[in-house]
Amino acid sequence: MRKKTVEIAQPKGKLGIMTCGMGAVATTFFAGVESIRRNLASPFGSLTQMGTIRLGKRTDRKAPMIKDFVPLAGLDDLVFGGWDIFPDNSYQAATNAGVLNSKDLDAVRDFLEEIRPLPGVFQRKYVKRLNGSHVKRGKTKMDLAKQVMEDIQAFQANSGAERMVIIWCGSTEIFMKPGPVHQSLAAFEKGLRSSDPGIAPSMIYAYAALKLGIPFANGAPNLTTDIPALQQLSIENRAPICGKDFKTGQTLMKTIIAPGLKARMIGLKGWFSTNILGNRDGEVLDDPMSFRTKEESKLSVLEYILQPDVYPELYKDFYHKVRINYYPPSGDNKEGWDNIDIFGWMGYPMQIKIDFLCRDSILAAPIVLDLILFMDLVQRCPEMAGKGIQEWLSFYFKSPMCAPNLYPEHDLFIQLMKLKNTLRHLRGEQLITHLGLEYYD
Ligand SMILES: NC(=O)c1ccc[n+]([C@@H]2O[C@H](COP(=O)([O-])OP(=O)(O)OC[C@H]3O[C@@H](n4cnc5c(N)ncnc54)[C@H](O)[C@@H]3O)[C@@H](O)[C@H]2O)c1
Repeated sequence: MRKKTVEIAQPKGKLGIMTCGMGAVATTFFAGVESIRRNLASPFGSLTQMGTIRLGKRTDRKAPMIKDFVPLAGLDDLVFGGWDIFPDNSYQAATNAGVLNSKDLDAVRDFLEEIRPLPGVFQRKYVKRLNGSHVKRGKTKMDLAKQVMEDIQAFQANSGAERMVIIWCGSTEIFMKPGPVHQSLAAFEKGLRSSDPGIAPSMIYAYAALKLGIPFANGAPNLTTDIPALQQLSIENRAPICGKDFKTGQTLMKTIIAPGLKARMIGLKGWFSTNILGNRDGEVLDDPMSFRTKEESKLSVLEYILQPDVYPELYKDFYHKVRINYYPPSGDNKEGWDNIDIFGWMGYPMQIKIDFLCRDSILAAPIVLDLILFMDLVQRCPEMAGKGIQEWLSFYFKSPMCAPNLYPEHDLFIQLMKLKNTLRHLRGEQLITHLGLEYYD
């Protein structure tokens, strides 16, 4: 039986995308979208472009493409802009990042050269390994937020975008804990006027976006919108938020394998993960303060999936270590090793070894695309836009944001079911429980 369809406005006109940071991930995303538009590439890795969604009973054999099932903006309607603390245009930045080869970059060079970053909001205190000169000056952090708002409005006017989405693709900031300045919007705005050190650059961009009613997604593990003040602004201005930290590489593998071990009640003694990578992200993460932010994001995953409190015999006190090592020769081609010590029937030990030769930005770029298209869907949907955190997008994040009284859901398969059931709910379709007893009546 069909339920009532939720109201969603059609995606008319252009969708403006601004990225905070135009490094490896952002430029690989820009280049990929344009290559797809020119029929030079396929959108591999993108659920919105390639995924289907099953509707009704298994025997109905009905599984439309997700992009045909919900009204998503088309790739031809996307226009791009953003900020960086280095003035390089996206072609130069992509060349420096070294993710895509020169043949692929040259095929879209004209397009990438036109995407030039606006000066960023930056203070070295928050990302110690970077020192860019393309930065805004302002008397207070509120001044800087106003300049970012002016940038957004100017970009929207010049590009003719009907709607906007803003996404943090900037470097990982230092580890920060929520403090008094983050507890309410009034305290935060006072803090902006007095340039409170508790307000990091990523929060200034997020504030500017949300203040203008624009959705904001966070691809790094920074605190950013994970504070009551900005969550309040998100709800008040009906500007959705989601985060944190794109789930790619080693953590993606972890959230695929750990649910499988738990499903079969296989115990875990230890999980040692180490990475070598040589891009700018790796260089930033070589600083212990930025690494701490990443480490928190990576470590919590196993605790939540394996539930040691529920299964103490299997998962209490397992040893979990994550290391990231900056190794320039690897460039963006990260290598992640996992050594997993498990045990089974009668306690007999076994081991799993993983050597994942991955390309971080190749895994992250389709996530950026999906998040932008889904965040734009949400802003056109009155039922969803005022809900603040979009937990149904946890599928894409290492540290999914969720309501204060909830724990985050990390299991990739539960996350996917949640995402697809949300889409079914929006279109008035039955949710799928996988019960299936009716087939045997
Ligand atoms: N690549 C992945 O798979 C992946 C996965 C999860 C998270 N992330 C996170 O995404 C972010 C981007 O990754 P990347 O590989 O593109 O890194 P990158 O170093 O190539 O790019 C980051 C860019 O942000 C810019 N930047 C830093 N601070 C800024 C500020 N305040 N304002 C504007 N620009 C600023 C830097 O100059 C740089 O060009 C990082 O925080 C990374 O940890 C990446």
